[in-house]
Amino acid sequence: MSGDLPVSTTATTVAGVPRAGGSGRLGAHTVSRVGFGAMQLPRLHGDRGAAVALLRRLLELGVDHVDTAQFYGAGLVNELIGEALRPEDGVLIVSKVGAEPDPAGPHPLRAAQRPEQLRAGVEANLRTLGVEQVPVVNLRRMDTGPGLRAQGDQLVALDDQLAVLTALRDEGKIGAVGLSNVTLEALRQALPVGLACVQNAYSLVAREDEEMLALCAAEDIAWVPYFPLGSAFPGLPKVTDEPAVRAAAEELGATPAQVGLAWLLRHDPHVLLIPGTANAAHLEANVAAGALALSEAALTALDAVPTRSGPVTGA
Ligand SMILES: NC(=O)c1ccc[n+]([C@@H]2O[C@H](COP(=O)([O-])OP(=O)(O)OC[C@H]3O[C@@H](n4cnc5c(N)ncnc54)[C@H](OP(=O)(O)O)[C@@H]3O)[C@@H](O)[C@H]2O)c1
Repeated sequence: MSGDLPVSTTATTVAGVPRAGGSGRLGAHTVSRVGFGAMQLPRLHGDRGAAVALLRRLLELGVDHVDTAQFYGAGLVNELIGEALRPEDGVLIVSKVGAEPDPAGPHPLRAAQRPEQLRAGVEANLRTLGVEQVPVVNLRRMDTGPGLRAQGDQLVALDDQLAVLTALRDEGKIGAVGLSNVTLEALRQALPVGLACVQNAYSLVAREDEEMLALCAAEDIAWVPYFPLGSAFPGLPKVTDEPAVRAAAEELGATPAQVGLAWLLRHDPHVLLIPGTANAAHLEANVAAGALALSEAALTALDAVPTRSGPVTGA
């Protein structure tokens, strides 16, 4: 792949397919509002052909925004993306730095927050994706959300990290900067850098960050929630378990997952989705959720669902 993607600014992708869920903005890019989170792909490590086919299916479905990380499958996921998607496909690849795999540890990841580790993370992404520029890179902090917290020499000042990322942007190795797992205070502090997107854990059942979403909307920054369905991790509340979601799904003849995704899209136009799946039927269902119309009654019931708390897990 190349960093200079021919991203389309019309209602269709470069492949001429209507964008899944319509078009949204991510920094300077126009993308499908239903994107794809690649974190589930390592489950297909024994069947590389199936993983590549799933990624190629994105093009037929009008999905042109893929979220990845070097630490997903220790480079495997990036390699699969580099193999499956060509520059002329016009898919926006968004990656992240700030962690590395820790297969033997208590969490699947460990912090890699120091400035030289961030730079090495970008270089690794360039290598495994096979590109000269990563179009968007999220600084994956560990300030909030489920999972890891940075400790010791991994507690790095935000400004020192942003200095690395803006230098990499000046060098052309990354196209734009985003933030992940941050507090409202950190988001405010980072605004002068010019952010393309923010990724925090957020869903119909995890809405602690409503104020951050409002700030992103005011600043025209894309809000790209991770765990939009509540994740694959046991112990975290699942959108699909919520009675109001199940009732709306029955009323609409849709699945609970589709209702949860449709609610996110309807909640604010700055929301872009990256549901994670390794299952082709689920991918198609997630794309179809982009066209699901929620009734006013269903919306009212869904809006009233409270945030459900769950134990912290390793994400
Ligand atoms: N910035 C960060 O720190 C951060 C952290 C975590 C994740 N992420 C990104 O966010 C993306 C989304 O998060 P996630 O994948 O962890 O969680 P998620 O999207 O909330 O949920 C994924 C789970 O939902 C299932 N699923 C997906 N579509 C479904 C459907 N239509 N019907 C029923 N089940 C469905 C998946 O199983 P199947 O595979 O069987 O469909 C998987 O178990 C990740 O893929 C990753 O790209 C970012």
